[in-house]
Amino acid sequence: MIKDFFYYNPVKLVFGEGKLAEAGKYAKMYGKKALIVTTGTLFKENGLVDRLQKILKGSGVGSVYFPEVSANPLNTQIDKGAEIARAANCKVVIGLGGGSAIDAAKGIAIVLGHKRPIWDFCIGAEVQPITDKTYPIIAITTTSGTGSECTQWAVITNAKTEEKPGIGGDYTFARVAIVDPELMATMPPKITASTGFDTLAHAIEAYTAVLETPITDLACEQAIRLVGRFLRRAVKNGQDREARNAMAYANSLAGIAISVGIVTVCHGLAHSIGGLSGSTHGETLATMTPETMRFSMRSHPDKFRKIAMFLRDECAAPESYALEDSIKEVQALIKDIGLGAPLSQQGLKEKDIERAADGVIRYMGGSITNDPAAPKREDLLAIIRKAF
Ligand SMILES: [Fe+2]
Repeated sequence: MIKDFFYYNPVKLVFGEGKLAEAGKYAKMYGKKALIVTTGTLFKENGLVDRLQKILKGSGVGSVYFPEVSANPLNTQIDKGAEIARAANCKVVIGLGGGSAIDAAKGIAIVLGHKRPIWDFCIGAEVQPITDKTYPIIAITTTSGTGSECTQWAVITNAKTEEKPGIGGDYTFARVAIVDPELMATMPPKITASTGFDTLAHAIEAYTAVLETPITDLACEQAIRLVGRFLRRAVKNGQDREARNAMAYANSLAGIAISVGIVTVCHGLAHSIGGLSGSTHGETLATMTPETMRFSMRSHPDKFRKIAMFLRDECAAPESYALEDSIKEVQALIKDIGLGAPLSQQGLKEKDIERAADGVIRYMGGSITNDPAAPKREDLLAIIRKAF
């Protein structure tokens, strides 16, 4: 019996080596001038920005380049990017990079359309709705992690309040996502590992979520299998085309999954901890995931025990796997790709543990209600302390 479910993901997904060349064809559907958003100037230095600008120009689309976004995009950076885009009369916003650049592009598109600072859409009783005024977004991903090219979510950090909420809705999906595995070949091993683990966390969380659906389950199962088979290889040898290609696909699959199934408490914790410590998203997830799995798995054992089967890329009776097998497989992967440092080594201070738990409740509450075990404050504290 198929349960009732809701599914919506309107992204045009363009996947394949060399697909960057099609960026102009799509951009011109949405305007004659684009803002290109990157995190830092690396892509200017290695020629990727010039390449994209040339491709856009070939389709009659002018562009302005905005590199002032940090790894955890700040609300102030997003407001500034929107100012520059407005002054240059940009009609479409292109995020070129990993989740940070794409999330910032989404934020800038919101600000451009609504003419209000991005923080007005983030936290608080007066939080504004994100409407169809949002400018068109194109996501060109250069990492295989966040899945942001296929989701409506944007994670925005406020340095003053040390909050890091995830925002988004029907109008913050990219109109087009270009996933070109060639662009991922130069990603260093550490980023390959952390973004690759983010992919796994998305797939595990959407798979075991209250909002699970039969469609996203398929995406999650395949994403977990691909991570199990190829993440170690991609970390070991960035030039392994088959591994890069598989991880790029796994990333988009997991992105599609969290656009509907959303995330659970591990992501809620990673956001809150990241806001307080500035830690790297994927690295924090890697440390937290075995603990959150252990907490949540008894509330949804049928799903959790299959994670071991997918990570081993096996097909067997789910009953032949113990719940602990899934945790062991995840831990082995974490070790092999060099992640798993305790939270205390990722910038989290002991005095902030309570704030971290409270942050999840205050602005990532959806991750709690979507978790099969719906943790309480004391559960959150216990999970953080174990990972500390
Ligand atoms: Fe994530």
